[in-house]
Amino acid sequence: MDSSDIEKRIHYLNTTLNDHNYLYYVLAKPKISDQEFDILLKELETLEQQYPEYIQENSPIQRVGSDLTKKFKSVKHQYPMLSLSNSYNKEELIDFDERVKKNLPPDASYDYICELKYDGLAVSLRYEKGKLVQALTRGDGVKGDDITNNIKTIPSIPLKLRGDDYPEILEIRGEVIMSHKSFNKLNDAKEIELLKLGLFEDEIAEQLYKNPRNAASGSLKLQNPKEVAKRGLDCFLYYVFIEGKEIYLPDNLCDTLKKVQEWGFKTGFYFERCKNIEEVFQYVNFWSEERPTLPFDIDGIVVKVNEFKYHNTLGHTAKSPRWAIAYKFPSEKVETILREVTYQVGRTGAITPVANLVPVQISGTTVKRASIHNADIINELDLYLGDFVYMEKGGEIIPKILGVNKEKRPKNAHKVTFATHCPECQTALTKKEGESVHYCPNIYNCPPQLIGKIEHFTSRKAMYINALGERTVAQLFRNNLIADYTDLYKLTIADVESLDGFKEKASEKLIHGIEISKSMPFERVLYALGIRHVGETVAKKLAFYFENIDSLMIATQLEIAEVPEVGVKIAESVFDFFRQAQNILRINKLKEIGLVFEIVKEEDFVDLLQSKSFVVSGKFNHYSREQIKQLIEKNGGKNVSSISAKTDFVLAGEDMGPSKLKKAKDLEITIINEVAFLNMIQLDVVSLPTNQRDLFG
Ligand code: IVH
Repeated sequence: MDSSDIEKRIHYLNTTLNDHNYLYYVLAKPKISDQEFDILLKELETLEQQYPEYIQENSPIQRVGSDLTKKFKSVKHQYPMLSLSNSYNKEELIDFDERVKKNLPPDASYDYICELKYDGLAVSLRYEKGKLVQALTRGDGVKGDDITNNIKTIPSIPLKLRGDDYPEILEIRGEVIMSHKSFNKLNDAKEIELLKLGLFEDEIAEQLYKNPRNAASGSLKLQNPKEVAKRGLDCFLYYVFIEGKEIYLPDNLCDTLKKVQEWGFKTGFYFERCKNIEEVFQYVNFWSEERPTLPFDIDGIVVKVNEFKYHNTLGHTAKSPRWAIAYKFPSEKVETILREVTYQVGRTGAITPVANLVPVQISGTTVKRASIHNADIINELDLYLGDFVYMEKGGEIIPKILGVNKEKRPKNAHKVTFATHCPECQTALTKKEGESVHYCPNIYNCPPQLIGKIEHFTSRKAMYINALGERTVAQLFRNNLIADYTDLYKLTIADVESLDGFKEKASEKLIHGIEISKSMPFERVLYALGIRHVGETVAKKLAFYFENIDSLMIATQLEIAEVPEVGVKIAESVFDFFRQAQNILRINKLKEIGLVFEIVKEEDFVDLLQSKSFVVSGKFNHYSREQIKQLIEKNGGKNVSSISAKTDFVLAGEDMGPSKLKKAKDLEITIINEVAFLNMIQLDVVSLPTNQRDLFG
């Protein structure tokens, strides 16, 4: 093939694949099999890799860029994103109907359009000359987050509009949702992964997404579009604003939603024109019944006046349009059988009873557990094993038990009595007079409490050992590799590699993360120790007041309470902490390891980088991006977020976006890689793992 044939083939593949995407995602009428589609897609991908000069803007491959955005830009909405006023029964809908009638001319002839109220996240998409240029979240209604790169990964959203009769500027609004299928797939995969790591069921439940809306929202906030692309998001569009050249557009919403489908938008098949409020009721009744058959969540029905001209007549209040109203479904209740009550141990030793149920479906998700909070609630509910209990789904994956159907109670059923011993370490539980929560007092040996302490030590605001998330901590603990946070510093690469799912590179990263945490400042170390009532701010106050751990350790309660903002309760807790042998032992170990136990004064800073400014971008081999930034500051440099003529260095990691690289080159800024940077700050590169991939030769 010569180059013009290649260009033509790429063009053909683009058009064909986009057509099939439209048939599949928007019209739900696929014409070719998934396999046939994949063959064409693979061909396009290969050609684009070989001939990047012919890549087209609307290429289905280019939906997933690799620009990692640290924070989403906040952008003002061209038209504010209002919300809807709610109604909960027929009477309120009749009131709405009457209000509309009263505010329109007596001879006005209008219909309603009824739609499903999709339970997801509102987005506003902007197209200029047919190209998707911006996607914003609702935000506060006036300003939203720019999530364009993530939105581009949703296959049912066109990157370029079809046909040629679209307006020059178009803003279209809709709801990003996650189907039940994608939601279950996501949570199932997460559950399997967590089970493999040895987490307990209730710990797993805590980490799973609570409902498809939360999952959709979490997915759109991900920093890496490649991850977003895997989440199976979808989008239904429901409102359009048009600017620019005169074009023909229907004068009502119903026909407009059909028209914009021709341009490639998914507006669903669920909207209906209703001649009067009676027909609106029929629609509401139908979907109240049929709601469980939908493959995604809805939380009500939206009723809108169909004719655009009356939208202007009716106007809007500060919050919502007067031409539309939401009818919200009552929350769903279900009944199922209580199998057993198990107990969960929190970080502080607090015990929470959990009802294990015969699995039951509520709003498309399976519910297996319910929380019962404490012993008082068990007594109030008068629970027996085998009872039929009922629950309401309030947007939580672990719903609450509301009551018991005592008529159905099996004969000879056993009354639920609260556990007397910790399910994890078998220590007898304690409960203070007048309190409702039971505690496991075994704070030094009870596994979930120990794991909790280690998690706190490694967390973002404490030692920030980035590669060591909650799951890895639990995994290390359950494999007897650590029993306490001081053990982290004894870990070797071989130890970590012995864990499921850890490859060489990840293990090296983790060990280096632990190593570099040794240089964390005193105030963070103090916070990381996990002294009760000592949060981040109090840790800072104490650290700067006492300047080193030894002075703090010998301070009296009164002296501690003299620190501004430190009350008697905190002082008592700090004082007690340093009177426990285990804690002294821990501190001595950490001192030996080389952690920082005193405030670093200004003059101690190493000024190797002499206020030079750095933009750090991409992924690195030896350190996380956050750690690199800390190293810059520690050595007297400055971090800046975007490249400008004033930037001294761009520190480029793997995956740095090509546009940034180009900008740096255009401005003739020195681009360095990780190894060069580590040399600059005189870190011994030779002692680091040698899998360095030199990006710039
Ligand atoms: S119309 C002026 N139609 O519900 C507001 N909204 O509670 C126009 N929503 O923020 C909104 N499905 O996120 C409209 N078919 C639908 C909807 C819908 C879900 C959401 C939307 C809005 C919220 C208001």
